[in-house]
Amino acid sequence: MRLSSRLPHGFEPNALSAALGRLRAEGRDLLDLTRSNPTRCGFSYPEDTLLAALSTRDALDYDPDPRGSRPAREAVAAHHGHGLRAEDLLLTASTSEGYALLFKLLGDPGDEVLVPSPSYPLFEWLARLEGLTAHAVPSYFHDRWHLDTGALEAAVTPRTRAVVVVNPNNPTGQFLSKQEWTELTGLCARRNLALLVDEVFSDYPLEPTPDRLATALLDAAPPCPVFLLSGLSKVAALPQVKLGWIAVRGPGAEAHLEALAFLADQYLSVASPVQAAAPALLAAAPGIQDQIRRRLRANLSALDGLLAEQPRLTRLPVEGGWSALLRRPAVDADEACALRLLERASVLVHPGSFFDLPGNGHLVLSLLVDAEVFRRGLETALPHL
Ligand SMILES: Cc1ncc(COP(=O)(O)O)c(C=O)c1O
Repeated sequence: MRLSSRLPHGFEPNALSAALGRLRAEGRDLLDLTRSNPTRCGFSYPEDTLLAALSTRDALDYDPDPRGSRPAREAVAAHHGHGLRAEDLLLTASTSEGYALLFKLLGDPGDEVLVPSPSYPLFEWLARLEGLTAHAVPSYFHDRWHLDTGALEAAVTPRTRAVVVVNPNNPTGQFLSKQEWTELTGLCARRNLALLVDEVFSDYPLEPTPDRLATALLDAAPPCPVFLLSGLSKVAALPQVKLGWIAVRGPGAEAHLEALAFLADQYLSVASPVQAAAPALLAAAPGIQDQIRRRLRANLSALDGLLAEQPRLTRLPVEGGWSALLRRPAVDADEACALRLLERASVLVHPGSFFDLPGNGHLVLSLLVDAEVFRRGLETALPHL
């Protein structure tokens, strides 16, 4: 039987994943510098508080609201501040599900969304699975990453429906500047586009520039429809509880929320226990975020210490987020370099090409990794670069 053409032609792993599977099966001890699952990075979660929150009597009640329970939305609104109200929000099971709802809301099959690149690679599939095409528009690096709003405008076609930005971006760490925000919202208003802003990492600024847009919610009345996405997977480092949300602002917000509620009503995918627990889980977030910020800073400083002894290698500024970009002489393809590190040094890193970093010469490191593993992994890897 023929399957949907939205799916990939095959499901073979790429060369790096295949090598990783083989080495793991052989029992090889690996130093994983890509780990970004916070539940496996040695943080100390307030277990009793979290488990108590997830096992109250309310978890046994079913009172479905396609927008999500009011107390949970109130807790999310209070977490964000900046005048956000429960009425502006719709809960989802994850940020990824938020994208799926928004792409269904905004596009017809064959329509396009513009995504500044490099960025989070999942967009291509999230768009394609909804029948849309994600069109990558290169950002450029000059002392820091910049959004190329001219190139974005030039890429708009009659089928373009939205622009998707990540603030701060994964993996470049770029926060939008206030100037870029003004240009971007102006462009979307002029060309009748929606603006999707993914702020899952906005609580993790590391080396922010003074003019950064800390959050799109600073703009109470944007000139175009704005959909902000976030969720507990990064805000409270709890990807396993599956709670995300979409905040809606700008022209048509009420109608957009009503249509989103219609879409969400077809699935009702957010589980009752997590909605009941949301206020307590969000209350626990600051303590977990503190530990994460300390880890990010410690690993960045360890990286700088080791790079000081390796004049051929540098790193790019990390304005925010959980990743660092390592720059190396581009003597071979990034993927070949990552494969070499894995096979010869037993160190796993991501090649920049996985995130569409231009050319060769970039490796992506997770700054969330346990500090000892991070230092040992780098000490082993750097001499091979
Ligand atoms: C930019 C970005 N958005 C969304 C997500 C996924 O979030 P969720 O677990 O809520 O789907 C990730 C995960 O790494 C991400 O990097």
